[in-house]
Amino acid sequence: MVNKISIVGAGRVGESTAQMLAIQKLAQQIVLIDLDEQYAKGVALDIQETSSVYHFDAGLMGASDISNIQDSNIIIITAGMPRKPGMDRADVLAINLKIIDEIMDGIIEYAPDAYVIVVSNPVDVLTYYANQKANWPRNRIMGQAGILDSMRLSSFIAMETDYSINDIQAMVLGGHGDTMVPLPRFTTVSGISIEHLLDQKTIDRLIQRTRNGGAEILNLKQKSSAYDAPGAAVTIMVEAIVHNKHRLLPCITMLEGEYGQTDIAIGVPVVLGKNGVEKIVELDFTDKEQQDFNASAQAIKGLIKEI
Ligand code: 2OP
Repeated sequence: MVNKISIVGAGRVGESTAQMLAIQKLAQQIVLIDLDEQYAKGVALDIQETSSVYHFDAGLMGASDISNIQDSNIIIITAGMPRKPGMDRADVLAINLKIIDEIMDGIIEYAPDAYVIVVSNPVDVLTYYANQKANWPRNRIMGQAGILDSMRLSSFIAMETDYSINDIQAMVLGGHGDTMVPLPRFTTVSGISIEHLLDQKTIDRLIQRTRNGGAEILNLKQKSSAYDAPGAAVTIMVEAIVHNKHRLLPCITMLEGEYGQTDIAIGVPVVLGKNGVEKIVELDFTDKEQQDFNASAQAIKGLIKEI
């Protein structure tokens, strides 16, 4: 069991993640760091008070001083300005870049052996930046997006058809934005591609809804972006690392020639285990899939140029 997991940013994604990590007994110590120390303490205590219901022994604490992440095994970065209705994930880049920069200083100083999962948006660009800044082996700093996007596509398929969610596996790669690359060929119901089960119009509609998945939640809630599904997605990654599960999951990682790309962090299928990103799985793309992936990479690179 991992001893200590720190979550930097005690907003709603941070809180939802902390709650799930505690319930799933993935850490003995969970630290929530936030600029607002009282708020972080409140979140930690609130979750702590659920321990008799969920029977977890983890100790939670809230703090504002980043040095409290000392010797964490895993650090999850959720801090940053969330987008407001009408904003794109890229619109929060400049502000969140500054925030990530400071957080990475703290991580490099206090938890130089940690695995880092970036969640703040625009997550692909911030994952790239975190890797550049730390200059650690690329297996240790990754980003979460593809699991959330795939969860959304799976849910939409189940909601629109009679197929059980238990049998649906979706695969969404690329950037976490309008150019994300949902792959119907690798999205299956019990191993059968949805291309064999749904008509093209339905597939196109579900894909469009997936691309718009974050905005759909934001437009409904108005006061907040998604946090339950993002928290669950991060928990899947933590579980894979803590329990060395070698799960094959879409995650954001630095590419060094894979998929024809270098100097970029983007969502691709990886094997996730106790060494973080242990392997990048290269799919044999069709021309159309490769085109879509390249377009997504171009969009990310456009933002990377701005930093
Ligand atoms: C989402 O997709 C906010 O990026 C986050 O819900």
